[in-house]
Amino acid sequence: MTTRTRTLGTTGPRVFALGLGCMGMSALYGAADRTESIATIHAALEAGVTLLDTGDFYGMGHNELLIGEALRTAPAPRREQALVSVKFGALRGPGGEWSGYDGRPEAVRNFAAYSLQRLGVDHIDVYRIARLDPDVPIEETVGAIAELVEQGHVRHIGLSELGAATVRRAAATAPIADLQIEYALITRGIEKEILPTTRELGIGITAYGVLSRGLISGHFGRDRQLPANDFRAFSPRFQGENLRHNLDLVDALRGIAAQKGVSVAQIAIAWVLSRGEDIVPLIGARTRERLTESLGALDVTLDAADLAAIEDAVPADAAAGDRYPRAAMAHLDSER
Ligand SMILES: NC(=O)c1ccc[n+]([C@@H]2O[C@H](COP(=O)([O-])OP(=O)(O)OC[C@H]3O[C@@H](n4cnc5c(N)ncnc54)[C@H](OP(=O)(O)O)[C@@H]3O)[C@@H](O)[C@H]2O)c1
Repeated sequence: MTTRTRTLGTTGPRVFALGLGCMGMSALYGAADRTESIATIHAALEAGVTLLDTGDFYGMGHNELLIGEALRTAPAPRREQALVSVKFGALRGPGGEWSGYDGRPEAVRNFAAYSLQRLGVDHIDVYRIARLDPDVPIEETVGAIAELVEQGHVRHIGLSELGAATVRRAAATAPIADLQIEYALITRGIEKEILPTTRELGIGITAYGVLSRGLISGHFGRDRQLPANDFRAFSPRFQGENLRHNLDLVDALRGIAAQKGVSVAQIAIAWVLSRGEDIVPLIGARTRERLTESLGALDVTLDAADLAAIEDAVPADAAAGDRYPRAAMAHLDSER
């Protein structure tokens, strides 16, 4: 059985081994049910989950207000165990359009002030810019968060989607708890350079897209129609021939899952958990049913034969299609 808690790097907090990513409760995956979203956060806290991940731009504040409400309405001991990780910096317009990133120190302070208010908390547990602002050296952005730490508004500094060289510069500026980055059976780009670097520097990984946004969950139907407000409608991996190829990989995983008597999603999450004690998968469940399934991954043990069978079914570069549309790929320092 997998250990139930992990530490975010050498300086970060001890957290439950799976975090809850709340993005899909407000944005990017089509409609979500508010009551069920709050019930899912409550159920996660009840099950021992500590880390709740959000971004101030998920539904332009909607996700922080939702988490704030969930925390206010949770029993006190559950509320007190919660650690909130917030991403900032993405610039949006009234129509939801994306227009770059702002990592200037004065912007960092402004973003933080609004997040504290929306969440209804007196500090943010982990604070990070979502993407590198190409016009602002990472030292300035991280330095501004370090000032917020000194002032008690933030507890720990995180990073998101940065490449190894930028991670090094950030770590030379202030202690960094974790790097949040996409990591999954079909998204293994961090293994070559980024993961060795975070390990060398004592920085943890909070892995997102562990189910590749539902693609390798075992629940994504070949004929599923996606609304225009669903990121997946534009994601290269979910298009035409790419989708067919990627779902064939899922079918190969399905056989392994069936043999073990577990679900495909549980295999995919357990695989990420097996990659190291420094990695905390963020689960994007937005219903209690999906949450329960995801938490079941903690009871799945993958032995050497299982890992070899999984590797055989889904080799490292097996996925078809980039993990983001072209315009979004350009913002990923981690892909340079
Ligand atoms: N730093 C960054 O750049 C970044 C980027 C993206 C996300 N994140 C964070 O990472 C979190 C997780 O990312 P993600 O939502 O893309 O991850 P994910 O877990 O790969 O995908 C979540 C989606 O998978 C589907 N799913 C099917 N079975 C599931 C199960 N058993 N448990 C959970 N989901 C299941 C759901 O879609 P349906 O409900 O439609 O079936 C759900 O919305 C986000 O909430 C966010 O906090 C960070």
